[in-house]
Amino acid sequence: MAVDLEKANNMRRVAFLLVAVLGLSGSAARIASASGEAAGKPASISSASPIYGVTIPPGYRDWQLIAVNHLQIGKLDQLRAQLGNEKAYKAFKEGKASFPDGAIIAALHWTRVPSEENDKALAVEFPGAQSFVIGPGVNIQIMVKDSKKYAASGGWGFGDFRDGKPGDEALTKTCFPCHQSATHDFVFAHYAPAP
Ligand code: HEC
Repeated sequence: MAVDLEKANNMRRVAFLLVAVLGLSGSAARIASASGEAAGKPASISSASPIYGVTIPPGYRDWQLIAVNHLQIGKLDQLRAQLGNEKAYKAFKEGKASFPDGAIIAALHWTRVPSEENDKALAVEFPGAQSFVIGPGVNIQIMVKDSKKYAASGGWGFGDFRDGKPGDEALTKTCFPCHQSATHDFVFAHYAPAP
């Protein structure tokens, strides 16, 4: 009985490995896995970014605020916030030249939209659209510092997530080359002091 169970488990493992290997080959499967729909893939694989295996860190929404920025490229109009876990926050705040292993930065991106409610209140003195707030969420980008694991990319692992699902390999390949021009340990954001 116990032996049969073990056999069945082994067969399941082989079947799973086959699915995983096949999933890596075809481009259709790649598209499916980018949207997290590949059958038989456990959440731990389909929720990790390609190349780096970065996942959305639990509890990131409660991390400390590092900085805020506004990105406008053509029609793309976003409000962005960068949050850091304890290690990242400390390194930012203390102005460290580089980040320690275990530091994680989460960049939260939303579409920028006008606020009817705020504009109504402001209209008493300033008519027109002037107050812009966070609209629909766009994506989350994660950088994880691990100088050994990610030695080939400046010690950082990258992941981009939309609706909780990681972007594909082509997208993930673009991260490090562009971040190479950031002079503060491949990070662009600067700690925003209290106003
Ligand atoms: C073409 C250049 C470019 C590419 C490609 C790029 N980034 Fe960035 N990234 C930036 C710039 C510039 C900033 C700072 C301004 C901003 O947030 O808009 C930034 C900010 C970030 C931040 C906040 C920390 C910091 O460095 O300021 C994270 C996290 C991040 N990017 C992750 C990623 C990930 C993950 C990818 C790949 C999917 C990626 N980036 C691709 C240019 C790039």
